[in-house]
Amino acid sequence: MQAQTLAIDFGTSNTAVGFMLNGAPVLLDIEPNSPTLPTSIFFDYDSRETLVGTPANKALIDGEYGRFMRALKSVLGTSIMHEKRRLMDEQMDFIEIISRFLREIKTRAETASGLRFNTALSGRPVHFHSNDPQKDAQALADLRACYLAAGFTDVEFMLEPEAAALANHSHLAQGTIGMIVDIGGGTSDFTIFEIVKGGIRILASHGVRVGGTDFDRKLSIDHIMPLLGKGSQICKAFGNETMPTPNAIFHNLATWQKIPFMYTREIRREADELFRYAAEPALLKRLADTLENELGHDLAFAAEHGKIAANIADAEIDLSALERRLTAPLSQAALGQSLEALTAKIKTAAAETLASASLTPDQISSLIFVGGSSLMGVVEATLQSQFPTAKPHRTSAFTAVIEGLTLATR
Ligand SMILES: Nc1ncnc2c1ncn2[C@@H]1O[C@H](COP(=O)(O)OP(=O)(O)OP(=O)(O)O)[C@@H](O)[C@H]1O
Ligand SMILES: [Mg+2]
Repeated sequence: MQAQTLAIDFGTSNTAVGFMLNGAPVLLDIEPNSPTLPTSIFFDYDSRETLVGTPANKALIDGEYGRFMRALKSVLGTSIMHEKRRLMDEQMDFIEIISRFLREIKTRAETASGLRFNTALSGRPVHFHSNDPQKDAQALADLRACYLAAGFTDVEFMLEPEAAALANHSHLAQGTIGMIVDIGGGTSDFTIFEIVKGGIRILASHGVRVGGTDFDRKLSIDHIMPLLGKGSQICKAFGNETMPTPNAIFHNLATWQKIPFMYTREIRREADELFRYAAEPALLKRLADTLENELGHDLAFAAEHGKIAANIADAEIDLSALERRLTAPLSQAALGQSLEALTAKIKTAAAETLASASLTPDQISSLIFVGGSSLMGVVEATLQSQFPTAKPHRTSAFTAVIEGLTLATR
């Protein structure tokens, strides 16, 4: 059996794999009838199984006994990467956790194809971390360690938007200057490229650590956390003075990759204290209940679903996992307002990409939107007004990167 290269788009929210078979690119159905799977993992404490993808999400929603994790890619390069945690009676760090996910992907690809993959060609964002070269380099080193621990003997990396450019060049005319706008779950990445004879020439690539999980966090902070007591008052133990609740507990609870660490005795005790002295105890009771019943991810999923619904029409965030019939209204206008600052950062990064290619907006003739968060109206409208003469293209939002990576393994 000949060993060959497996292309992997390890995304913050979704992962996909592909390989060349008899000279043709193949995207594997990594889950039944789907070329992508959620980058989620669930350690089932009862069955002692490690679930990945949709079954992991389902175990969380069904309230199975265990530990759920999502947005694992956002942990790369941070200090918690190498901290050991107790999971299913084992001490594990995030290298081990992510490598379990990657090992499962590798096994599925090998079983389905009958091939053996010793080398991985992995996508990577232009910057895992913005304005912090040291953290950025550490994130790449961490990801490499995860691939090696997953059983690959070698791993190469390709910038995700450059892979998307490779996948999308064939339907553009020679001389066209195009721009990939890849707005994913964790990062926004850009590549400006020119169509030349026989391929593409990369003119500039750039990115920023802003994505759909940041949108979810901001919506949670603005529209969910106030219902759990954020911004309400705490009565001091002595006297009649009050002070606002501390922000950190709410911010961490709204951040996908921090939620698994919220269910400690210390944090639960902090929430109980806040409840005890709350001017509006009904609100802080919800915070204590969320921690007690480990509902942090349920609230994050509610924020994400509310975001996707409000992108189309005025909507509600469904918080019934926490309390019967509890909802938070989310109008399209409120969505736009909450996401304004994050969208501005994406706009700045696009402008910086253009500047590093020494081009003006009118020289970009095609804007190619990829990544799930490029489906957000506020993002599309912002980019389109920044490049008013560019023609928008929408291709496979969730598979453009893996298509390009697969072609690159040829
Ligand atoms: N219909 C939709 N409208 C708006 N946003 C959506 C939609 N569908 C998915 N998303 C968002 O897109 C994001 C996931 O996109 P994608 O799968 O491209 O990210 P990723 O490749 O996993 O992340 P990254 O490339 O940043 O590591 C999530 O934040 C999700 O909430
Ligand atoms: Mg992506």
